Amino acid sequence: DAQHPTEQWRPKVHFSPQKNWTNDPNGMIYFKGYYHLFFQHNPKGNEWGNMSWGHARSKDLLHWEELPVAIPNGKEYIFSGCVVWDKYHASGLGNPQKDLLIAIYTADYPYTREEQHLAFSNDDGLTWTKYEGNPVLNINYKDFRDPNIFWHEESKQFIMAVAKPFEYKISFYGSKNLIKWELLSEFGKQGDVGMIWECPSLQYLPIEGSTQKKWVLFVSSQGPYKDYVGMQYFIGDFDGKKFTNENDEDTKLYVDFGKDFYAAVPFSNAPKNQNVWLGWMLSWKYAKEQPTFPWKGQMSLARKLSLVESNQGLRLQQKFVPDFDRMAPSFEASNFVVKDSKFKQISGMKFLKDKTYAVDVKISGSKSHFSGLLIKGKANEQEWIKIGFDEKTMKWKIDRSHSGKIISDFFDGLQVAPAVDGMPKNFKVVIDRSTVELLAQNGTVAISALRFPLDIEENVYLISEGGNTQIQQIKIWELK
Ligand code: FRU
Repeated sequence: DAQHPTEQWRPKVHFSPQKNWTNDPNGMIYFKGYYHLFFQHNPKGNEWGNMSWGHARSKDLLHWEELPVAIPNGKEYIFSGCVVWDKYHASGLGNPQKDLLIAIYTADYPYTREEQHLAFSNDDGLTWTKYEGNPVLNINYKDFRDPNIFWHEESKQFIMAVAKPFEYKISFYGSKNLIKWELLSEFGKQGDVGMIWECPSLQYLPIEGSTQKKWVLFVSSQGPYKDYVGMQYFIGDFDGKKFTNENDEDTKLYVDFGKDFYAAVPFSNAPKNQNVWLGWMLSWKYAKEQPTFPWKGQMSLARKLSLVESNQGLRLQQKFVPDFDRMAPSFEASNFVVKDSKFKQISGMKFLKDKTYAVDVKISGSKSHFSGLLIKGKANEQEWIKIGFDEKTMKWKIDRSHSGKIISDFFDGLQVAPAVDGMPKNFKVVIDRSTVELLAQNGTVAISALRFPLDIEENVYLISEGGNTQIQQIKIWELK
């Protein structure tokens, strides 16, 4: 029964609304000690509708406190957008004595028009006033959405990236005051155009092991065909007007090969100028079918972004935030072999009931077609999920085909990502009840996937199929 509470599937260290629907994360900003997360929300129901901005905040990116709805819908639906700190009151809005946050989002008039609107807050994001001069940007388009804004120091202006979904284009606009926007350039029809483009962000990412940085344009796209991938990125340059892709037009770079990672955008004003983001952990393909109540939809863990040089060129690197390596593991073992076709039980663990933990595995050698974790129901051994690496095909995999409730034809059992040449064979996976997030090879490979296990407790094994696997180290953290 869909109306039955399903708290057993509610992630503990991922955000989900207490009740009702969510999709994209919106307006994320770090401000005065809090990470603020606004989110696409139906305050009145467990399905998409009445789109408004919900609000939550967190000090550690693991535990979230939900706050009242921040921006309710009117005749217009409040679609995705961003929040920036108007440090010098460039907009002239609100109380000049108080800190000023500015939200810019898409006002969607269903089936008619999408415009960019502004709202402001003088109480650190708790309450918002819709600007009476709205829209701040309108080109009379039916589909024109998801503005994401940052301050560009070199050209001394705010830059907005905003999508024309059905043209596979991102438009860049500039503004000195967040109210008057001027078109700078457009970029598009490159990479993967099999699906509409939404939720762009342009970010200046550091290259690991160097003092260099590069501009990276991110786009979300989920289309009508089965093998869609949720997010792609382009690496290049931005001169204050124009983004140029440094790769061939048809190079396709994907953020995450799982079905459940979408619409990720960065936190504005993040500490130490870091690029931190999180995404919606669900897929439009089966969002309606998520079998949870009284909420539907959840966010991924936060991840820190950078670029890293691999044998295949520059690649996106994502690392979980907070960094588990700085926390004491509750289990650790090193230098042992998992024999062919054997399960190695990781003994002495007490996390099984809670189903919320992180595992870090460093593989030092393998001839196996599957090296990794096997997580099995305790009472029902037919229920399992496998997470790991196939040395024979050089692919990372999450196999959720037997993970419990299969909710739709599009809820693909097997999710596969190609290995990145030249990166070590390590992986981190965070299992938080219904959410499974794999970041492998120093975070250059990502697979995020939901599961809906029926067995209440589970056991975790290391496994090697078709050859031995040498494990250099395994660490496990319980997350509370
Ligand atoms: C992406 C999206 C956005 C839009 C929002 C509406 O998931 O379609 O393009 O702003 O969701 O809820």
